[in-house]
Amino acid sequence: MDTNQKQPKFVLFVGEGDFSYSASYVEKQNSKNELVFSTCLNSGILNSKQNKNIEIIKDNGGSVLTDVDATQLESHPVLSQVKFRKIIFNFPHVPKKMNIGQNRKLVELFLKSAEQILDSNGRIHVSLCKGQGGTDAEVEVREWHNSWQIVELASRAGLMLCDIWPFDVDSFEKYECTGFRGQSKSFNMEAAVTHVFCRQRLVSSGKFVSQKFSEDSLKEWFKSDCTELYRSLSQKLDSPFSGIAAVLIESVKSKIILNNDSYFTVEYFKDKLLPMYRSLSLFPASHTHDTSFWVNEDFKERNLFVLVRRTVGLLVKSIKLVEIYCDEPTKRVSRCYRFVYQSHGEILPKSVVSCIHSQLRLTIEMSLNVSLR
Ligand SMILES: C[S@@+](CC[C@H](N)C(=O)[O-])C[C@H]1O[C@@H](n2cnc3c(N)ncnc32)[C@H](O)[C@@H]1O
Repeated sequence: MDTNQKQPKFVLFVGEGDFSYSASYVEKQNSKNELVFSTCLNSGILNSKQNKNIEIIKDNGGSVLTDVDATQLESHPVLSQVKFRKIIFNFPHVPKKMNIGQNRKLVELFLKSAEQILDSNGRIHVSLCKGQGGTDAEVEVREWHNSWQIVELASRAGLMLCDIWPFDVDSFEKYECTGFRGQSKSFNMEAAVTHVFCRQRLVSSGKFVSQKFSEDSLKEWFKSDCTELYRSLSQKLDSPFSGIAAVLIESVKSKIILNNDSYFTVEYFKDKLLPMYRSLSLFPASHTHDTSFWVNEDFKERNLFVLVRRTVGLLVKSIKLVEIYCDEPTKRVSRCYRFVYQSHGEILPKSVVSCIHSQLRLTIEMSLNVSLR
């Protein structure tokens, strides 16, 4: 018997307005083995709509807490004692006029705080209005600097974007968005997007990458049944295979055991497989750094490429020569290269990339006999 089935899963809603979303959620989900905590920031007197929705939540076995700051969940006396499977913040917004900097800060601090009370398979859902998130999944993609840059904010909390979908308002009949700029007005939810974050995941809904198996050998194994697949993988784990295989998991999903929550059942293979398979982050941010250096006649571009690959591996997505400059009086030649960092497998906040690039610059200078400008 699977004892995991009996463990309740905790679900937390933060920043609720009139509690209509979580009331709808508990009504819809009450057959599942979930315990819901629904919370709001305010501690003032609740209006009749809020009270009605709170009643529905409580009638369905949920708990309601007021005065909960989404940026300090880890120090809340009750919430800090629980590990949550799902933490949901719909349309976070500081309670005043639009201020992109303050809203980014709210989301960043929320993600950092929520990460601390998330269970090992947990996910954090953040829904944002059209264009705010700043990923390519938006119907209208805003310029990055004009968006909330949610993937970058999550990376600072050690989280990656593992799923994304249009905000599902139709399944939650009772839901009425409230809280436009801190008032009880509603706001436009057209083309809103739900971003789902996780720490690291073994299998994404899309793809996974193995650096140890060739694509053909994996395809072969996937044709066999599940037991055979696992047996083969276990046997081959220590053998060196060349090539990088990117295989669509969709085609093999049916052969991999999924538990009720659609999470890959990893316990049995955890020790062996976990180091092998990395999660893939969707729409990871890219970071661009230009570096110029004086070269002499010995300089070979190929050596630069090899050095970069050896030093930072696949974190650099591309290196492009953007300018060659000749200083007439001295006849010295300078080359400027553009390095674009991006990774689907590693969490790469901007600050980390800056450190990596500073070190890479020094390595280039020392190893290639060039002078940084
Ligand atoms: C635009 S409203 C959305 C309300 C509700 N989630 C919905 O979908 O209708 C923004 C919400 O963020 C909440 N909020 C802002 N800062 C918060 C914080 N530090 N902790 C918890 N909630 C916060 C506000 O109280 C408000 O309810």
